[in-house]
Amino acid sequence: MQNITIAIDGFSSTGKSTLAKQIAKELGYVYVDTGAMYRAVTLYALQNNFINENSFKVNDFVLELDKINLSFKFNEALGFSEMYLNDVNVEKEIRTLEVSSYVSKVSAVPEVRYQLVKQQQKMGEGKGIVMDGRDIGTVVFPQAELKIFMTASPKIRAQRRYDELIKRGDKVNFDEVLQNVQERDYIDSHREDSPLIKAQDAIEIDNTNLTLEEQFESIMNLVRMTLENQE
Ligand code: DC
Repeated sequence: MQNITIAIDGFSSTGKSTLAKQIAKELGYVYVDTGAMYRAVTLYALQNNFINENSFKVNDFVLELDKINLSFKFNEALGFSEMYLNDVNVEKEIRTLEVSSYVSKVSAVPEVRYQLVKQQQKMGEGKGIVMDGRDIGTVVFPQAELKIFMTASPKIRAQRRYDELIKRGDKVNFDEVLQNVQERDYIDSHREDSPLIKAQDAIEIDNTNLTLEEQFESIMNLVRMTLENQE
């Protein structure tokens, strides 16, 4: 059977990565979490004092982009790839609320997007890939055979992210998480370079009231239909 490219875009905390991992596992495809790449670049900016509450030294930061080496390494025990920043596993550090609160600003920088999109396109050259993010169906793989656009109400998304952070032992309050989700929605959809928009040929899935199983089944039906159409 011919391999395809599956692009999953949508708002933050819509469960894109959970779904993308499930599909990749089912099909034996590679899964790439592009949000993790933008988060790792943001972590680098924070660690090296290019960004803080009061300022973002964007011009200096852009000059350092070639010092940032991003890679994914497959973790057998977990069954998915983890994010490495300059050969250090940063999977935990990139999921903090601190990184979440700066990542939209860093990912709005055109030079950052240019570099990461180039790497993402290279990863997808052989197809057989499920990639999730904000601009996968519109910019990274406009020719993807299957494009999904995920949405859910902001409250339900904040609740999911809150539960995740609490489970990891982070001390956060719900309103702070909800505010972060809403702010990121706004910045991600209003930035000039590659804003989050639904590609014309993407299929929209609102999973506010769907269980993970229901969601997986409906997407797998779309995958099967797409694969049949390739033959
Ligand atoms: O998927 P996520 O919440 O981990 O993504 C973190 C941020 O990265 C998100 O707020 C916007 C940015 N992002 C992006 O601009 N383009 C992508 N393809 C993926 C993520």
